[in-house]
Amino acid sequence: MPPLIGVDISSTAVKMVELSGGAGAYQLENYSIVPLVKDSVVDGHIASLEQVGVVLSRAWKLLSTRERRVALALPTTEVISKKVLMQAGLREHEMELQVETEASQYIPFALDDVNIDFQVLGPAPGDPSDVEVIIAASRKDNIEDRVGVVEEAGLKVVIMDVETYATEAAYELASNQLANGGRGQTVMIVDIGAVKMRVSALHDNQFIYSREQTFGGYQLTQEIQRQYGLTFENAEISKRKGDLPEGYKTAVLEPFKQSLVLEVARALQLFVSSSQYNKVDHIMLAGGCAAIPGVDVAVAERTRVNTVVANPFTNMSVSSRVKQKNLAADAPSLMIACGLALRRFN
Ligand SMILES: Nc1ncnc2c1ncn2[C@@H]1O[C@H](COP(=O)(O)OP(=O)(O)OP(=O)(O)O)[C@@H](O)[C@H]1O
Ligand SMILES: [Mg+2]
Repeated sequence: MPPLIGVDISSTAVKMVELSGGAGAYQLENYSIVPLVKDSVVDGHIASLEQVGVVLSRAWKLLSTRERRVALALPTTEVISKKVLMQAGLREHEMELQVETEASQYIPFALDDVNIDFQVLGPAPGDPSDVEVIIAASRKDNIEDRVGVVEEAGLKVVIMDVETYATEAAYELASNQLANGGRGQTVMIVDIGAVKMRVSALHDNQFIYSREQTFGGYQLTQEIQRQYGLTFENAEISKRKGDLPEGYKTAVLEPFKQSLVLEVARALQLFVSSSQYNKVDHIMLAGGCAAIPGVDVAVAERTRVNTVVANPFTNMSVSSRVKQKNLAADAPSLMIACGLALRRFN
């Protein structure tokens, strides 16, 4: 597949990643993160096409690439997906018909209003005369908004993925950070963004659990605004740079870190008590809040579980165009964009 750029339109920023090379020897060509004005994207919906369009153009310019082909993802909450079994060896149009029949049974919208896609996963476990097929459906207007705003910015959408799948693809790389690549072990990934905390768990590198709740760095930004009388935008900048008045660390940052640690500890308990696994071997922290200095240590102390900050680029070579200084802090919030950039290779 020719080069493409992974583009994540998240609730706080547009993030782009470009990779080159090939399996086992990827190179990070460049990445960019450009913040969005607050409420441009709300709950996965693009509320301001104009704002998002401007930021997409800026993020693309910062990459200084010639490539305009991109992979995008839909928020998981906007996609209904279902695994079904079908007879092996069906022809394409026979499968399409069956997919429509299956889909009409579980999609709560008129089929005319949705886009349906499917992919054969492989032979059904236990019965080789069947294949497992994953069907994914999303409302057309969701897709059209995303594709429209990206194409308006002069880019070309060649892949439309789902955020969960993109995260899974990036995890495959980040799992290199764990002993034995996570094989045979139980790993809990906690992605803490601005407003959402997403918890997923894997056993032997298979995803077995996921849950999401409201919690994120926006709370800290609001507290900074309140304490120091800053606008949202300035509070965000100062927060990332860490250049806030004396006393910030103990009075504002530390209490937030404590509540973050508590949320992770609770999520761990919830997972352990609701699954067949009675322990977790590693916690992997992702999302922008994983960049807060020392959160990994604090989580490890509280939970007694080995904790790492996700970095899907660990084993990659890095092009000289990349600003290395920020890479480690930015990496945990680039999981989706990186997973999308990887689509070039499969
Ligand atoms: N270096 C940093 N130090 C502290 N906080 C940071 C840093 N970088 C990002 N953040 C915070 O992380 C949050 C953004 O994280 P992320 O990019 O993962 O969110 P998002 O994917 O846009 O949002 P969500 O997942 O909630 O939809 C913001 O609250 C931001 O202030
Ligand atoms: Mg996110």
